[in-house]
Amino acid sequence: MEVLKNIDKVQNIVSKQLRDGKTIGFVPTMGYLHEGHIRLIKEARKENDFIILSIFVNPLQFGEGEDLDTYPRDEEHDRRMAEENGVDLIFLPSKETMYPGPLSIEMAVTKRTDVLCGRSRPGHFEGVVTVLTKLFNIIRPDRVYFGMKDAQQVAVVDALIHDYNFPIKLVAVPTVREKDGLAKSSRNVNLSTDERKEAPFIQQALLTGVQLMKDGKKLPEEIMDAVRKFLESKTHGNIDYIELLSYPELESVQTINQPVILAVAVYYKKVRLIDNIVFDQNGEIIKG
Ligand code: PAJ
Repeated sequence: MEVLKNIDKVQNIVSKQLRDGKTIGFVPTMGYLHEGHIRLIKEARKENDFIILSIFVNPLQFGEGEDLDTYPRDEEHDRRMAEENGVDLIFLPSKETMYPGPLSIEMAVTKRTDVLCGRSRPGHFEGVVTVLTKLFNIIRPDRVYFGMKDAQQVAVVDALIHDYNFPIKLVAVPTVREKDGLAKSSRNVNLSTDERKEAPFIQQALLTGVQLMKDGKKLPEEIMDAVRKFLESKTHGNIDYIELLSYPELESVQTINQPVILAVAVYYKKVRLIDNIVFDQNGEIIKG
């Protein structure tokens, strides 16, 4: 496995792989790898000849007062995990390599972003599509792998790929969870002991919502209210949002008669956790 920080070197290797007719699978991450990331790598390994993992904590997607400075990092651990799981090349650029100066051209995300995390984190998805556009151009993958843990990111990347004609297949991978149901996240290490105990109720709240829907409740308001009451009774975290929207369009719905996403974000002292479930009109979970 190679670890490269330099864009030219990565592009040379990519060119050689493409000349040799190899397919490239790409897993973009911000590092501090856990089993969620590993699942993406394993899926990529199954379907492609050459696997590239990027590790870059992208400052552009963090807002003021967010956790850029405390975002966990462990390069040694990441290298080992990547190597053990069959990554061929890690691209590990510095901030200066990715953003040598101010950009002359900026991207604006106009759909699928005025809801959920897009609303609470202005500029976040602009930062995500900017770094991904650069990474897609550097790595020229056949397939890219994203986790449904960040379902809105999947929806926005889907739009990026279609709107800008990237010849890339987007593969969405179900959320990997701890035994108690908490979605794995690099940020979980920044939960206090008490917060960690409460955090699994986030998924339970989502499942409560799906159950209500299975019991015949079809009004989004009713389901969101019940999820809110459940969460407020189980956790001291501050609820950022609870939303039920069509998926992947992320538009509000009057009644549930198509695939929808039920998504939650909760602020704890040092971290903001998100989770979601995507299900159909019968309450069957589709992804995640
Ligand atoms: P990061 O948070 O490191 O996540 C990298 C990828 O791992 C994302 O596609 C995310 O959805 C996936 N992932 C995280 N936790 C997961 C879990 N529990 N189960 C399954 N997949 C999981 O998302 C980003 O980085 C950045 O926004 C990035 C795309 C790299 C752009 O900077």
